[in-house]
Amino acid sequence: MAIQPIRLFGDPILRTTALEVVDFDKELHRLVQDLTDTMLDAPGAGLAAPQIGVGLRVFTWNVEGEVGHLVNPVLDLSDETQDGDEGCLSIPGLTIDCRRALSVVARGFDRHGEPVTIEGSELLARAIQHETDHLDGVLFVDRLTPELRKQAMKEIRESEWFGLSGSPTIKVSPHPTRGLAI
Ligand code: CO
Repeated sequence: MAIQPIRLFGDPILRTTALEVVDFDKELHRLVQDLTDTMLDAPGAGLAAPQIGVGLRVFTWNVEGEVGHLVNPVLDLSDETQDGDEGCLSIPGLTIDCRRALSVVARGFDRHGEPVTIEGSELLARAIQHETDHLDGVLFVDRLTPELRKQAMKEIRESEWFGLSGSPTIKVSPHPTRGLAI
């Protein structure tokens, strides 16, 4: 187990585009393990490498009992959309309605460098889109309607953790929406 501190909104790494993984080596295996351990401990439905301070294109997910990871993802999104609650482990306490594609085909690699295709809908599709956004420095609050985004930013500014992102030792408490925070 190697649970890492989760970076919070305001940390510049969450706004930085992550780099493609080139070496599928021991360090990558350790990163996938750290992401998995940290995600399950939170608990969360997904976690991306920048959220634990690593600028590489890797994320994990934990949806309906299935735990997985994906390296260097490329997404193909459905035109059909879904509306539903979304949260983020880097924005503790905020849950807000966010529109996403209903289903997704994600192509990438596993930690050994083997090509992988993941097809998901609903929560898995939401998690995959949310985590892939993290790799591009995009946060789910960027995806909200202007009105909800305003509300979200207000809640963030009023959060007790906001402005403390320089001390990444804050423990995220269990999320009220069945671990939906991603
Ligand atoms: Co997130």
